[in-house]
Amino acid sequence: MAQVAEAVSGRDSRATDRRDAWWLAPVAVAAGLGITGLYLFWAAFQNAHFRFGNYLSPVYSPEIHPSWWPPSPAFLILIPPLLFRTTCYYYRKAYYRAFFWDPPACAVGEPSRKYTGETKFPFIMQNMHRFALYLAIFWLIFLWYDVYEAFHFENGFGIGLGSIFILLSTLTLTLYTFSCHSWRHIVGGKLDCFSCSASARARHGLWQRFTGLNERHQLYAWISLFSVTAADVVVRLLSMGVIQDVRFL
Ligand code: FES
Repeated sequence: MAQVAEAVSGRDSRATDRRDAWWLAPVAVAAGLGITGLYLFWAAFQNAHFRFGNYLSPVYSPEIHPSWWPPSPAFLILIPPLLFRTTCYYYRKAYYRAFFWDPPACAVGEPSRKYTGETKFPFIMQNMHRFALYLAIFWLIFLWYDVYEAFHFENGFGIGLGSIFILLSTLTLTLYTFSCHSWRHIVGGKLDCFSCSASARARHGLWQRFTGLNERHQLYAWISLFSVTAADVVVRLLSMGVIQDVRFL
């Protein structure tokens, strides 16, 4: 343990005795977050081609056009999801490593010894994650309504290419939201005894189920991010006439 501490205590960033490709994970995270982040910023900036018939891009949901906000409404709409993701326990680890290299990986040197944790501004704001979760759950109501609309065409129920992408986007966002560590704590936290009452036993049962989801939180974080991006791409390409919608039913 003392050797590890000594290995990482050097002032040079990346000082380590590790011989594996420890840099691969932070580089992959930086690439994944960088590419999707840039695309979603560009899509939000466009303020166009976010609707095609009964399909609405999740980047512009709920569809609002406030007269007091001249820029793209997506910059308002994306505030709750952005707060939710930036304060997410998993993403915090991922982007601290990928973008701040503080530290870049376990047992690897850090660029600075001045890290004060999440006790000072701005990082103390990370503690509002539970409130961002409440907003994210509220946002899911709009997104599931979009799913309902995406399966209802002029002639009734149907399944199109856009329906599938919008469903996948909302489904994976729901898995991501309810696999949240804060949600797991809301469901089963602050209980001293899991078997002492009927309500405690019910909460324990729910806690076990959400723990199963929670174990895959990292996976849901990524597939939901890619699914939202893909749903916007499909709606955008349909709206621009670059591709044609395919009706399966
Ligand atoms: Fe990741 Fe709550 S911990 S969304």
